[in-house]
Amino acid sequence: MVRVATLLGEWATRRGESEREKIRWMAAGYLHDALRDEDPERLRGHVPAPFDELPGKVLHGPAAADFLRKEGVDDEELLHAISYHTVGSKDFGEIGFALVAADFLEPGRKMREDWRAELRERAAGDLREVVKEILADRLGSLLERRRPLGLEAVDMWNLLSEGEPWASASEF
Ligand SMILES: [Fe+2]
Repeated sequence: MVRVATLLGEWATRRGESEREKIRWMAAGYLHDALRDEDPERLRGHVPAPFDELPGKVLHGPAAADFLRKEGVDDEELLHAISYHTVGSKDFGEIGFALVAADFLEPGRKMREDWRAELRERAAGDLREVVKEILADRLGSLLERRRPLGLEAVDMWNLLSEGEPWASASEF
């Protein structure tokens, strides 16, 4: 969480965001996984519908947002980012896109390091393109493995691809 928050702070600075905005970005980094190590079935009873139907490993997002809301946090963009960081959302504000990117690109993850370092470098100036590249990779890998796609991630993909020529899936 510290690495994600630090990366978000760096990007906010490089983008010239205000100090207040930088604090919001870093808060997303520090708080998004606050309940990741809790028993998912215990969290299930605490998250509002429709989140309570989600698979266990993604429940910590909405559970953390719900907990923060009850503690008096009313920053909706921040809460939405935390809630949906595990599944994606077409309704993310900049904090949501940045959180998803930072979560995937934080330097502690040891996979495809050159590719991830390059995206990390570009993210401050070209956040949406970087998120699109991450999502294309993740969705592509699910398709290759013949796995189902989450509707939230597909909606997010369609949002990020707006303006591209549309083709039906049956147009071969
Ligand atoms: Fe998470």
